[in-house]
Amino acid sequence: MRLDKYICDNTSLTRSLATKAIKSGRIKVNHKKAKSGSDKIQPDCDSVFFDGQVIQPQPHNRYYMMHKPEGVVCANSDGAHALVFDLMSQELNADKLHTVGRLDKDTTGLLLITDDGQWSHQITSPKHHQQKVYRAWLAEPLIKHAEQQVEQGILLKDELKPTLPAQLERISDTQVLLTINEGRYHQVKRMFAAMGNRVVKLHRHSIGGVTLDAQLAPGEYRMLSDDEVQALSK
Ligand code: URA
Repeated sequence: MRLDKYICDNTSLTRSLATKAIKSGRIKVNHKKAKSGSDKIQPDCDSVFFDGQVIQPQPHNRYYMMHKPEGVVCANSDGAHALVFDLMSQELNADKLHTVGRLDKDTTGLLLITDDGQWSHQITSPKHHQQKVYRAWLAEPLIKHAEQQVEQGILLKDELKPTLPAQLERISDTQVLLTINEGRYHQVKRMFAAMGNRVVKLHRHSIGGVTLDAQLAPGEYRMLSDDEVQALSK
């Protein structure tokens, strides 16, 4: 990579200050004075010094969205099943990444993947109440007062506290959009089970202000934009 880019990425210097530092002989690469910002360096093998202090490469966090397909699990290892990380390029060192929460093996849709533990904690922490929108296909026609039940909160099997108020939009008798503000274990499937129904297919559409990119086919992924990362940082 270019020397001036390396300096800007890893110090508080702007490109023009980096150029000035180079021109005035304050930057050395492997103990030789650098000549120009366009000099090429290899960050893995070269050492860059500014006034005799080594410029350490700053780790950059990585943020992705994936269109999770069916049949892969959200885990870093699993003896029995294919992992979402198996779908990612080997060069990404996916062993350093983790999924932000989990989707079931048979659930599809928006999955966030990162190496930034603080960021993912903010999204999954019950304190932050990030809205998640799911499309669910049901085995049975939806009962009459499902909207009100979901709005009031539903007591899930083996739990003491009802779910937080959620919103249900009926697309048809057996297809709904459900917006929830928490992320309990198998929450969507258990909410419909508590209403005597069964989810036969589940797809996550969005989390907070971030919606699954319609350009991504199942199994594809892309980096999040800065705006998308920011939208989920509160
Ligand atoms: N709720 C579920 O029941 N399953 C998922 O995968 C996500 C939310």
